[in-house]
Amino acid sequence: MSQSVIINDVGPRDGLQNQQKILRPDQRVRLIEALLGAGLGHIEVGAFVSPKAVPAMAGAAAVLAGLPTGDSSVFTVLVPNFKGYELARDAGAKSVSTVLYGTDAMAQANVRMSRAAAEQATAEIIASARQDGIRVTATIAVAFECPFDGPVDPSLPQEVIARFLELGADEVAIADTIGAANPKQVRSLTEVLVSEYGSGQLACHFHDTRAMGLANVFAAVESGIRKFDAAIGGLGGCPFAPGASGNVATEDVVMMLEQMGFDTGISLADLMQASALAQELTGTAPGGRAAAWLEKTQSSK
Ligand code: COA
Ligand code: ZN
Repeated sequence: MSQSVIINDVGPRDGLQNQQKILRPDQRVRLIEALLGAGLGHIEVGAFVSPKAVPAMAGAAAVLAGLPTGDSSVFTVLVPNFKGYELARDAGAKSVSTVLYGTDAMAQANVRMSRAAAEQATAEIIASARQDGIRVTATIAVAFECPFDGPVDPSLPQEVIARFLELGADEVAIADTIGAANPKQVRSLTEVLVSEYGSGQLACHFHDTRAMGLANVFAAVESGIRKFDAAIGGLGGCPFAPGASGNVATEDVVMMLEQMGFDTGISLADLMQASALAQELTGTAPGGRAAAWLEKTQSSK
């Protein structure tokens, strides 16, 4: 099994979408540049969603236009529907993330569509993206538990993943949107998925609501998952999923994986600078659990 793990920092999207303070596109670009400077090669930089629904994501085209050119990093934008896909494509996006759902109630709350309609939208986006040369990650939101409908049967994400890989998604991510999953559940689902599909097209996305984010990353990495979403400073949360708190912090995930001997290609010292910037810009980044330790050790070097 590979000792390399890819971290996709979703701070500039998942992290900022729920903030009281709305950052301008140029401030979001500064944060993305700080992440690039720390060695992050995969970053979710924004969302092409209704600015009425999520004001903090307005100006995603300006964010894309402000990114450094000639960088080989994978910059992804979230698209909730086909209109979002068209806007992203026209703004020059090369990688999009679509959203599938574990339950109808979450699909309704997030995009006012049924689960089936959201799946249809992703199928249409994949078909167009293949023509347009755009990479697609399909993310299954509330893959373990929904704030409205409760636990999700593990057969559901398994079936959805099979179908969307078959339809041509480049990658499928399993998201614990509200941070309700435990490591035992994560291990049993990811073991089945990795044995069925290998790890190359799978990713996991955990929130730290119940302090199990890092334990869930550990469970998934033990099953062979080698790509994780995380957010700088532990920012994050879905405005439409009651009780959702921050994503597992990039600092925590990188420190744990590096200490375990995995290679993330990320510099912890530079990551702490990006974390400080996230704090400065938002005023609310909790900083993850490792921050105090990292600040102490990095400053003594
Ligand atoms: N980007 C920007 N604007 C969009 C859009 C998109 N992807 N999709 C629709 N719109 C616009 C429409 O053009 C319309 O504009 P108008 O009022 O100027 O005519 C307006 O939004 C409403 O369109 P409608 O199709 O009726 O959508 P809706 O009001 O049912 O809202 C979504 C549906 C999907 C647009 C909205 O719920 C949304 O953006 N949700 C995203 C939620 C999110 O980001 N969650 C967190 C990440 S998972
Ligand atoms: Zn999330």
